[in-house]
Amino acid sequence: MLRGKHILLGVTGSIAAYKAAILIRTLVREGAEVRVVMTPLAKEFITPLTLATLSRHPILVDFFDPEDGRWNSHVSLGEWADAYVIAPATANTLAKMACGIADNLLLTTYLSARCPVFVSPAMDLDMYAHPATRANLDKLRGMKVTVIEPGEGELASGLVGKGRMAEPEEIAEAVGTWFRNQKKKNLHGRRLMVTAGPTREAIDPVRYISNHSSGKMGYALAEELAARGAEVYLVTGPTNLPVGKGIHRIDTVSAQEMYEKACEIFPQTDGAVMCAAVADYTPAEVSDRKIKKEDGSWSLELRPTHDIAAELGRIKENRLLVGFALETDHERLNARSKLERKRFDFIVLNSLRDAGAGFGVDTNKITILERDGSCTDYPLKSKREAAGDIADKIEKYLS
Ligand code: CTP
Repeated sequence: MLRGKHILLGVTGSIAAYKAAILIRTLVREGAEVRVVMTPLAKEFITPLTLATLSRHPILVDFFDPEDGRWNSHVSLGEWADAYVIAPATANTLAKMACGIADNLLLTTYLSARCPVFVSPAMDLDMYAHPATRANLDKLRGMKVTVIEPGEGELASGLVGKGRMAEPEEIAEAVGTWFRNQKKKNLHGRRLMVTAGPTREAIDPVRYISNHSSGKMGYALAEELAARGAEVYLVTGPTNLPVGKGIHRIDTVSAQEMYEKACEIFPQTDGAVMCAAVADYTPAEVSDRKIKKEDGSWSLELRPTHDIAAELGRIKENRLLVGFALETDHERLNARSKLERKRFDFIVLNSLRDAGAGFGVDTNKITILERDGSCTDYPLKSKREAAGDIADKIEKYLS
């Protein structure tokens, strides 16, 4: 995600400075080269030796080396960096940044940096909620600094509330997302629909039939397509996932509801990606009262639902239609048969036999099969990265 990127990490004097060590490891693992600048007070919270060892670079604190007078140039540091991440950022440092005060190397570097700047505030809940801090953060946002919101939880003071520095993974993700979003908006002007999540088929007011789909893959794809400039319509079954800004979310519950919404939206789009795990059957009758337990076995009559993808395949004309297939055996054979049957342009295959692929997890291992007979295997990746591979293919088909 951050391969080859130069990340300058600014560490200020907060208890959360210990997380800087984990953040360096996370950034390095993502492929970044990391250099660290600390405020003098930050050295009281974590030693430069620890951070130098993890980043494999000497730590910069002072304007010059008192031993030999060597100058630590804030200008060349700012030029070196592709991103400047200040984590943890104390209320004091945020206030100085907002006012342009430059009384340490971390701050002079901020003023001369031309790269994107991220701050990850860490402080007590009352300091975070104070109008002065809120105003400073707003001012920084206005200066295009990305504020990575702190989390809620137990704070070093023993109080519980908002002010806890974001976790290192969240910070790395925020920086990675920023770089990804800088990619050319190749899908600008395109409208795309994504179906996602499971459906729920009611048996009675209390019970339903569903499946293990979490919706993560479909949501990751919706985010990726939107990041590339597409106007995205996410027709989703019930999930607990939040949806990013700018994505039109259309909530549905049953296969019938999803079918109706998808058929309504599809003709207004350039194409659709069918990620939803739609129930193939639904109870023939839905009881309006709770069904009571009786002795002996019980059977439920099911009738088939609409195959949404097959219907869209029938009416697609020159629109793009991408399918998904989650298989447990004869994977390629089954996927190719679905590709033909539902008139997909290409199909994304997941095998439940692959570790790290399937329901609920954050990773996926996909194979893309196309109508010309080609078949591309991708290594295990995060769902967001897998979404990037699928989006690359969508771009190719739409260009
Ligand atoms: N699909 C759909 N509507 C359905 C069933 C499936 O839109 N009622 C879509 C899925 O979103 C996916 C593709 O069709 O893109 C393949 O789904 P899958 O459940 O694997 O296919 P089925 O045809 O249901 O085959 P089976 O369950 O027998 O494997």
